[in-house]
Amino acid sequence: MLFIGTNIILACISVGFGFVLNGLGNRYRHLLQDINSTLTSFDTSSIKIKWIEQPLDHFDKKNINTWNMRYMERLDKWKKDGPIYLFMYGEGEASQVFLQTGILYELAEETNGAMLLSEHRYYGKSKPFEELTTENLKFLSSRQALADTARLLELVKSEPQYENSKIVVVGGSYAGNLAAWMRLLYPNLINAAIASSAPVLAKKDFYEYLEHVSDDFEQHGTEDCMEKINEIFTTYEKRFRTVDGIKQLKKEEYICEDTDMTKVENQQLFFLDKSSAFMYIAQYGNPDVIKTYCEDIKNTSLVFSSKVDENDFYDTKNNCYDYEFEEMIQNTKEIDWLVSWTYQTCTEFSYFPSTSSNKHPFTDNISMDLFYKMCTKTFGPNFDEKRIEAGVMETNMMYGGLTPNVTKVVFVNGDLDPYHRLSILEDLSYEAPAKVIPRTSHCRDLFSNRSGDPEELIEARYYIKYLIKKWIGLGDYNKPNEIKHTT
Ligand SMILES: *[C@@H]1O[C@H](CO)[C@@H](O)[C@H](O)[C@H]1NC(C)=O
Ligand SMILES: *[C@@H]1O[C@H](CO)[C@@H](O)[C@H](O)[C@H]1NC(C)=O
Ligand SMILES: *[C@@H]1O[C@H](CO)[C@@H](O)[C@H](O)[C@H]1NC(C)=O
Ligand SMILES: *[C@@H]1O[C@H](CO)[C@@H](O)[C@H](O)[C@H]1NC(C)=O
Ligand SMILES: *[C@@H]1O[C@H](CO)[C@@H](O)[C@H](O)[C@H]1NC(C)=O
Repeated sequence: MLFIGTNIILACISVGFGFVLNGLGNRYRHLLQDINSTLTSFDTSSIKIKWIEQPLDHFDKKNINTWNMRYMERLDKWKKDGPIYLFMYGEGEASQVFLQTGILYELAEETNGAMLLSEHRYYGKSKPFEELTTENLKFLSSRQALADTARLLELVKSEPQYENSKIVVVGGSYAGNLAAWMRLLYPNLINAAIASSAPVLAKKDFYEYLEHVSDDFEQHGTEDCMEKINEIFTTYEKRFRTVDGIKQLKKEEYICEDTDMTKVENQQLFFLDKSSAFMYIAQYGNPDVIKTYCEDIKNTSLVFSSKVDENDFYDTKNNCYDYEFEEMIQNTKEIDWLVSWTYQTCTEFSYFPSTSSNKHPFTDNISMDLFYKMCTKTFGPNFDEKRIEAGVMETNMMYGGLTPNVTKVVFVNGDLDPYHRLSILEDLSYEAPAKVIPRTSHCRDLFSNRSGDPEELIEARYYIKYLIKKWIGLGDYNKPNEIKHTT
């Protein structure tokens, strides 16, 4: 299997396997185990799966087509007048895990809240169409998804028992954007929001991503780590210069015999795959994982990926890595959520992690052209650079980029997470504060405490819950500066 996954690694936890994981299958499993380890019980009997009929197009009343959106409901913690908490899912199949553990679950437990979890249109089981042709995808947008969510909440809120209930939305990553934008567009419906690791600024050439990966390794890696990475990537580049070099590289890196590595886009995919090992660690790891990876690559001359069948480029039939661009496009088309998210990046957000900056050791071989080509090859010639640019501009105009006009939204980021470079890191106002958590990666604040969490992360969770309670009028909770440290 191979597909372009780097634009996918935005998710908080992805249930699918869309990462370009370079030899990182095991580490990925660790991540899932991490989340599971915070689960106190696996009792899902209190969680109900529900469906709501939604208009296909909220903005064209003449379009009378509808589809069914999936959501989940958990009411066993709810008591009269308790708030409603909605966990918004983004680019992936919805999972019940966030109704069983994490910040939303804790809030509901502490404040007698009702819990909901919504699935984004065109993901998981919330599919308006069987086939994701370009034509069918035209109703996929953040704006439509926000309208779906508003309609769901209006319907729930109209039930008499929720008459006095406040509504809080929670999301991480792309869904963190959505949480903030719910408050922006529906301030009368939504009372407060947590926008975790939310890259609210759409950006065509997101070269800061790899810059930040580099910063993480520089700051937390071993002393000679940067030099080593640089050496490895320079060697790759050198190999590509000659026919014999390519032959050698194919052997060293287990590249499939018939993959034509003289093609520029195949070379770029190779570089993307190799860089993605570092991307993944920066986005989901911690300082220890970074250090360990530096140790892992220390004694290798250039090969640092092991053969791992979870790697997106790994061809399990032939036991080799296949970096054939055309093949990658075809495979992407067979995986629904990849098609959907690729569509959203090509039309709304871009977020493509190029090597346009030179402040990193990953050479400069991942050009924006690779991503433009991915968009046009997947969706048609109209989905070109110009269109991406226009989409990004429109997104930022609509939602306000780094200065959305919102209150009662807390913007939380981990400073290891490269996506924080597109998020809000300083308070917008007293009622729209920002929190940056040291030594913490993507969306971690949405999980529950677990051993090894930095103290600042544990404090941040408390602070976020404090803010939400304050904003929905449940003010008699300790201020964070009154936390007693037991250590
Ligand atoms: C978490 O653990 C439960 C129970 O062992 C298991 O059913 C579930 O599949 C696990 N989930 C993940 C994401 O590993
Ligand atoms: C790397 O090589 C050094 C010296 O030969 C050795 O002490 C160390 O254990 C090796 N590290 C790994 C991770 O193989
Ligand atoms: C990588 O980038 C360098 C510098 O732009 C260029 O000379 C080289 O041809 C590129 N190599 C590959 C494999 O794309
Ligand atoms: C921000 O929103 C408030 C009300 O929600 C509105 O009064 C104000 O004009 C808005 N400011 C801008 C700059 O749009
Ligand atoms: C998380 O850890 C902090 C500090 O140990 C503690 O005060 C808090 O109660 C914990 N939260 C949960 C939900 O266990």
